[in-house]
Amino acid sequence: MAAKDVAPAVTLGNGHGGGMVPVVTPPPPSNGHRRAIMAPAVTLSSGHRMPAVGLGVWRMEDTAVRGLIHAAIRNGYRHFDCAAKYQNEAEVGDALAEAFQTGLVKREDLFITTKLWNSDHGHVTEACKDSLKKLKLDYLDLYLVHFPVATRHTEIGSLASVIGEDGVLDIDTTVSLEATWHAMEDLVNMGLVRSIGISNYGVFLARDCLAYAKIKPAVNQIEMHLRVKNPDRNRSRNRAGFFSCHCQKHGMCVTAHTPLGGSTANAKLFGSLSCLDDPVIKELAEKYGKTPAQLVLRWGLQKNTVVIPKTSKVERLQENLELFDFDISDEDMQEIKAIDRNHRSNQPAKFWGIDVYS
Ligand SMILES: NC(=O)c1ccc[n+]([C@@H]2O[C@H](COP(=O)([O-])OP(=O)(O)OC[C@H]3O[C@@H](n4cnc5c(N)ncnc54)[C@H](OP(=O)(O)O)[C@@H]3O)[C@@H](O)[C@H]2O)c1
Repeated sequence: MAAKDVAPAVTLGNGHGGGMVPVVTPPPPSNGHRRAIMAPAVTLSSGHRMPAVGLGVWRMEDTAVRGLIHAAIRNGYRHFDCAAKYQNEAEVGDALAEAFQTGLVKREDLFITTKLWNSDHGHVTEACKDSLKKLKLDYLDLYLVHFPVATRHTEIGSLASVIGEDGVLDIDTTVSLEATWHAMEDLVNMGLVRSIGISNYGVFLARDCLAYAKIKPAVNQIEMHLRVKNPDRNRSRNRAGFFSCHCQKHGMCVTAHTPLGGSTANAKLFGSLSCLDDPVIKELAEKYGKTPAQLVLRWGLQKNTVVIPKTSKVERLQENLELFDFDISDEDMQEIKAIDRNHRSNQPAKFWGIDVYS
């Protein structure tokens, strides 16, 4: 189905960009046990459905992965966001295999994303098969081009970000993004992947991809939280302000990576500000009887994005899924708008010597 034929991919908001909230948290069962919360799913341009809340697995301790994945499934998570670069696909794969074997969940009820690393753009099929092998899966629900940049290939699975003598990422100028995309399309035709998408593509690269794609990207996964890329912010103050609406208009679902602004993890790694400490957010969270994280994630849903918060704390898994029993009012959405600082929290330029978002 052509992207232009589909309605905006996500319809979760309460009028702040379309749609309505389709899910109410079910009441607890009479036996007193807590019922798992199931996030609603959005229909992608591929026709497949992706749960609106997923668990990101970047920077999870290898030894904690199994416990977290199993606890997440028990809490109702059905969507996991992985990447070859996170170097824990094998651990995630072991956890998933055990979950299927023990009947905790069925494969068809999960949505598993992983991503092609920069150094493997010229080797898409081998990279995808390597990820499938590590994840112990026959197919992926979604495979994303992690960044719109091809770097010098080392070997499959080595996942290097080779830096040249000039201190800048060693970019391979012989592999075009178009060639990479057509190789991604082949994966769908081979039955290895159900949906394909892009990540960290800006407006021009995304537009270009739509032009050359035979299979349109179903998803653009970009950094989005209330300190960056507020999608309906005044255009003159934030060039990227309309970007997520633009993606949705062209049938691409926007997945918000770093939906909590990376919190303390990115404060440590990149020196970023954590939006969870913002006094406006704290005050509003209190008003709704929610935590700052829940308010920030609910904001993401009301902006019609899919959110994939990461936590390594079992007790936060449930908190990050309890997003469907409240609505942020129009007035408060306006108040939140004012705290956009156009501040990107994930800053790979710090290590790559080049700003891939420029
Ligand atoms: N496509 C890309 O280029 C890209 C880039 C970045 C991220 N991602 C994906 O997006 C996912 C999420 O991004 P991220 O992990 O960088 O950042 P994030 O989810 O925005 O924030 C994670 C941080 O928030 C903390 N946190 C989680 N739940 C919390 C809560 N309820 N209250 C307070 N703090 C909480 C976590 O600490 P604890 O672990 O201690 O709870 C961690 O420090 C990643 O795991 C990855 O799957 C993709």
